[in-house]
Amino acid sequence: MLKAPLQKLGTERTDEGLYGDGRACAQVDRTQIDGGSGPGRVAVVTGAGSGVGRALAIALAREGVAVCLVGRDPIKLAATAAVARPFSPVTEFQIDLTVEDALQPLMQHLERGAGRLDVLIHCAGVIQQDPMERARLTDFDFQYATNVRAPYALTQRLLPSLMAARGQIVFINSSVGLTAKRPDIGQYAATKHALKAIADSLREEVNPKGLRVLTVYLGRTATPMQETISRQEGRAYHPETLLQPEDVASVVLNALMLPPTAEVTDISIRPMARPKGN
Ligand SMILES: NC(=O)c1ccc[n+]([C@@H]2O[C@H](COP(=O)([O-])OP(=O)(O)OC[C@H]3O[C@@H](n4cnc5c(N)ncnc54)[C@H](OP(=O)(O)O)[C@@H]3O)[C@@H](O)[C@H]2O)c1
Repeated sequence: MLKAPLQKLGTERTDEGLYGDGRACAQVDRTQIDGGSGPGRVAVVTGAGSGVGRALAIALAREGVAVCLVGRDPIKLAATAAVARPFSPVTEFQIDLTVEDALQPLMQHLERGAGRLDVLIHCAGVIQQDPMERARLTDFDFQYATNVRAPYALTQRLLPSLMAARGQIVFINSSVGLTAKRPDIGQYAATKHALKAIADSLREEVNPKGLRVLTVYLGRTATPMQETISRQEGRAYHPETLLQPEDVASVVLNALMLPPTAEVTDISIRPMARPKGN
C-alpha cells in the first residue's frame, strides 16, 4: 500500500509530514500548498484505455486525483472510467494523439479547471516488429508519430499548466529504449531511444523550474500489446509470469509522491521470471 497521500503528489513541501504518518518535512514552504481547501490535483494519462495506462489512471483516481483519460477507443476509455470514477472525478477524451488539432477538448477542459496540471503520464504507444529487409517505412513513420512526436507535442502544449503546478511528467518507455540488442525491434527501439532523449533533455530544461521528469523502462508487461507481441513471436502468452500493470502503477505512484528534495529520473522494471530473449 502507498504510504503517502497523493494530495502531496506535486513537488510542493507540506507541513503535514511527508509520508502522512507524522514524520516531519525537512523544510516547509506553506506558500506553495493549497491544503484541503484548494483545487484538487489533476492528471492526464494517455493510453488510459488499456494495459499500463489503465492501471495508472485507476491508481491515481484511487488516491483522489482527478484524471483525464486519453485514448482512441471510447469503449475502452469508458471501461477504465467505470472503475476509476467511484474514487475521483474522471473525464474521457477520445483523442488520436497523432492528430494535433484533436487536443483541443483536453486543452479546454484544463483551462476550465484551475489551468494547472499536476501529472502528465505518457503511456500511449504502438509497436511493429519486422526484420529490416522487409520492414515498411510507413510502419516506421507511424511508430515515430505515436511514440515520439505525439508525446513531444502533448508535453509542449501542456507545459504551461505543468509549470503552474510545479508538476511531474512520466514517460513510459521500454527496456529496448536503453539497449536494442534484439532482432526485428529496430524501428520501435529507435522511437523509444528518441523518447529517452526527449525526456533526458526536457529534465534539464524544467528541473530548475521545479518540475520532475521520470522515465520508466518496462520489460514484458501483461497487457494487450504484449499479448499481440507474444502471438507475433510465436510464443505462448502467460500473463501471470509477466510484470503486471499494477506493479508498474505502484512503482510510479511511489516515485510521484517523493518529497521535492528527491527526483527519481529513471526506473527499470522487468518480470522476475523472464522468458528467453528478454
Ligand atoms: N506491454 C509491454 O510489454 C511493454 C513493454 C515495454 C514498453 N511498453 C510500453 O508501455 C506503454 C503502454 O503499453 P501497454 O503495454 O499498456 O499496451 P496497450 O495496452 O496496447 O496500450 C497502449 C495504449 O496506447 C493507446 N494509443 C496508441 N496509439 C494512440 C494514439 N494515436 N492516440 C491515443 N492513444 C493511442 C491505445 O489506445 P486505444 O486502444 O484507445 O487506441 C492503448 O490504450 C507503451 O508506450 C508501450 O510501448 C509496453
